[in-house]
Amino acid sequence: MNIKSIAAATLAISVLTPQAQSAPPPARQHILMDSGWRFAPDVPVALRGALPLTAWRWHAGQADEAARMVAPDLDTATPEWKDAATGRDVFGGRVGLAWFHTSLPVSATLDHARHRLLRFGGVDDNATVYLNGRKLVHHEGWNDSFDVPLDAAWKSGGPNVLTVLVENTSGPGGITGPVTLGMVASPSQADPASPAFSDAAWRTVHLPHDYVIEGTFTPKGDPGHGSLIPTPAWYRKTFTVPASDRGKVLWLDFDGVYRDATVTLNGVTLGTHPCGYTPFRFDISQAAHYGGPNVLAVHTNAQHEEGWWYEGGGIYRHVWLTVADPVHIAPWGTFVSTKMPEPTPGQPLAPATVTVRTTVVNQSPQSQKPFVGFIVTGPNGASLARLLPVPRPLLPGASLTMSQTFEIRNPSLWSIENPQMYRAEVAILNGAPQNDGPSRSVGLATSFRVAHLIDATDTPFGIRTIRFDAERGFFLNGRPVKIKGTCNHQDFAGVGVAMPDSLLYWRVKKLKAMGSNAYRMSHNPPTSELLDACDRLGMLVMDENRHLGDTEDGKASQNTPYADLHEVQSMVLRDRNHPSVIMWSMCNEEGIQGTAHGRDIFAAMKRVVDAADGTRPVTCAMNYGYDSAVGITSVEDLQGINYNSGDYDGFHRAHPTLPLYGSETSSEVGTRGVYSREKFSGGGDYTGIPAQGYVSAYDDNAVPWGQTAEVGWQSIADRPFVAGGYVWTGFDYKGEPTPFGWPDVNSNFGIMDECGFPKDAYYYYQSVWGDKPIVHLLPHWNWAGKEGQPITVWAYSNAARVALSLNGASLGTKDMPRNGHLEWLVPYAPGTLTATGYDAAGRVMASDTVATTGAPAALRLSTDRTTLQANGEDLTMVEVDVVDAQGRVVPTADTLVSFMVKGAGRIRGVGNGDPSSHEPDQASQRRAFGGKCLVIIGAGDRPGGIALSAAAPGLKTAALTLTTL
Ligand code: GAL
Repeated sequence: MNIKSIAAATLAISVLTPQAQSAPPPARQHILMDSGWRFAPDVPVALRGALPLTAWRWHAGQADEAARMVAPDLDTATPEWKDAATGRDVFGGRVGLAWFHTSLPVSATLDHARHRLLRFGGVDDNATVYLNGRKLVHHEGWNDSFDVPLDAAWKSGGPNVLTVLVENTSGPGGITGPVTLGMVASPSQADPASPAFSDAAWRTVHLPHDYVIEGTFTPKGDPGHGSLIPTPAWYRKTFTVPASDRGKVLWLDFDGVYRDATVTLNGVTLGTHPCGYTPFRFDISQAAHYGGPNVLAVHTNAQHEEGWWYEGGGIYRHVWLTVADPVHIAPWGTFVSTKMPEPTPGQPLAPATVTVRTTVVNQSPQSQKPFVGFIVTGPNGASLARLLPVPRPLLPGASLTMSQTFEIRNPSLWSIENPQMYRAEVAILNGAPQNDGPSRSVGLATSFRVAHLIDATDTPFGIRTIRFDAERGFFLNGRPVKIKGTCNHQDFAGVGVAMPDSLLYWRVKKLKAMGSNAYRMSHNPPTSELLDACDRLGMLVMDENRHLGDTEDGKASQNTPYADLHEVQSMVLRDRNHPSVIMWSMCNEEGIQGTAHGRDIFAAMKRVVDAADGTRPVTCAMNYGYDSAVGITSVEDLQGINYNSGDYDGFHRAHPTLPLYGSETSSEVGTRGVYSREKFSGGGDYTGIPAQGYVSAYDDNAVPWGQTAEVGWQSIADRPFVAGGYVWTGFDYKGEPTPFGWPDVNSNFGIMDECGFPKDAYYYYQSVWGDKPIVHLLPHWNWAGKEGQPITVWAYSNAARVALSLNGASLGTKDMPRNGHLEWLVPYAPGTLTATGYDAAGRVMASDTVATTGAPAALRLSTDRTTLQANGEDLTMVEVDVVDAQGRVVPTADTLVSFMVKGAGRIRGVGNGDPSSHEPDQASQRRAFGGKCLVIIGAGDRPGGIALSAAAPGLKTAALTLTTL
């Protein structure tokens, strides 16, 4: 097919043969910037000649008084001014402003010095600092230290009058930390953002990186956030931009930095980004040095929390540099939406209508009239192509969205079982194409001419229909699908929030193997690679914004106009092409969810979401307020109820046309391999070993607001009008150590522990969600010392009946209750306990055994991937089992295991799933817990072999060989 025939293409699908290519220069470069970062914690340099400022006057005030208040000759001896000391609350709960005033000491040393600094130990909340009437710095965020360079406004011989405007948004407020005046040797010594700064003493890290996980667990840390101490830190990266890139448009994409990022390139501040969960972008075309080195510096500060769980710290997602022609496709500027009549089972599929919308930007100084080409490629390689001129000249600085609609006959549908993906390659050509010059491939196969190709993007998408029915739940491609979902935070053992792509895929596969078909991104926009994993593996997604209102700003509903909804918009623009996403969630459990104010914010957000997408329902996760006539419920497409399953029927009666699902369910707590049924109270009634911070893994325990796994699922399974639910949570996570505090540093909510080792609940879900026959027995059968005493035995199964026997002697057969479990009391005798599941016709479907093991004798290593990519990032999870002489996992073993790695890789982290373990995640050793621990092995950036060995005193060592390519 030549270019003319593309231009004239009809909607027929034609198969294009890729042609031999002479590797033309890429139209757009998308460069991963994850390697070679230098890193150091931000420890402020010591001030020389430090003088504390202790005598202050303060006055409640207004912002519009600034001109008068900052005047150096202002009289603060008048009665409305009062004495103030640092560290004191001057607001007493008042929301508003206060002016602080002081005169800096007269000092000949300071007069003769350079690089004078004022160091604030903390201001609650926001500070604007003036010297001699001149505004120097505005600092947002409470109680962290910041420096203010003074030279720009310093008056030799004095007086030097300092004014600070403090804004309080809630609770107490004032200048909360000490304020110190002093000097530093040079600004670059104090300022790693300066290109002149030497980072030779820093260490090199590869992204994704979480530095908070490198810390030590301490009771001084906030248990909600994992009992680690979050700090500020610096990252620097030096990279070259070739001279040939001059005249192009360059931008940097940060996919996620926790948090309060300030980004500087070559000493020029590009900007700041407070939110730790949303992506951000800076155009660096002006600040870049062409043909030479560029110094990128990123300051992060993990001290401020956004959620109530472990949030990590650092550049924990990818960073990209894009180099594009000034005439290019806007970032997130391709939107592929698909439409087709809902398939009817047994009937032929109707054609799908695919609309590719592309926003073209002209950042060149001339008017442009480019062509836009589209190639859509199906899962079987069949392509469909089209080329169109933009309808009118694009003026300098202008952008234009072009829309092109195709029909695809007999589409290959994206589904959970068979997630078929298409690709839309979009190309920009700078003029009428000629039928000459070499052809090139934009991706799989095109005939667009190299000479004219100036930009190209590649967008994976899927074709499927979704529908929520208020009576019958969720439909995918015309078939009812119960949502069997889990909620998940974004951290994992060993690596914290720095989860490389392969770990994201691994976790989704684990959830799928459990029978789960849906993933809630609780409670923040995810990294795009997680959505890629869900697309490719077939997992439905509830994509979630962090907050009601502006994502970052917790006080949005009070002070900020919620017309500024760029963060929720960025989530939708970025994620709208993923077929896995079936709903947009605006928030979780917001105090104003049942009020008219909450409704108005939600409605404003929904308008933004619908404008950017319009193909998926907009919802939110509410734990109350859905009975209010004026709240969010009155304007949403789909009702999410957190817990409160007793309200499902009443809600459905009251809102018979509003579809409903359980946005959060269960919150069962359990510790892997712990079967003590000792009762204790911790805000609810629990069983377990409270002194060690363990809850029993029998499904006995749930938080007061939640339900056990069984009760949670039963309330959904039996109600067709409930579209399904998302269990809290698939994996344990750091922080929120419910029902304990310290010594626990992990949650106990996971169906799997923090390492992805299944707890017993995993098999419950397999039995009710999965489609394979299964029997699972609990507990383990190592109860030395309890001979003759009754042990509670449970079985999960999807068989019709289950028979139990101990050492060959029958203990009876029972009918399996639907969505439940079976229970026996078995007097303990060492040996083998066997459960056998039978179908209704009496045929054996599945069986399980637990056997009394011998003492630990050896270690065993196993992994699902032994070949890794040599990209500095890929990794594999190596499961470490402590086994007896017969190779059976010893369920009570807590052996300390040491690891050694040689060759082309390194240990990325370790874990064992013990919620109260204070062993470091970044280490080369770990105790087993319940007979297991995990070592995560990461690839280096050179191909080669990796030899891993594991050793423990008195046990046979184990070894594993990996290859990196
Ligand atoms: C919910 C909340 C979750 C988590 C959970 C624990 O109310 O949305 O983030 O805290 O409780 O049960």
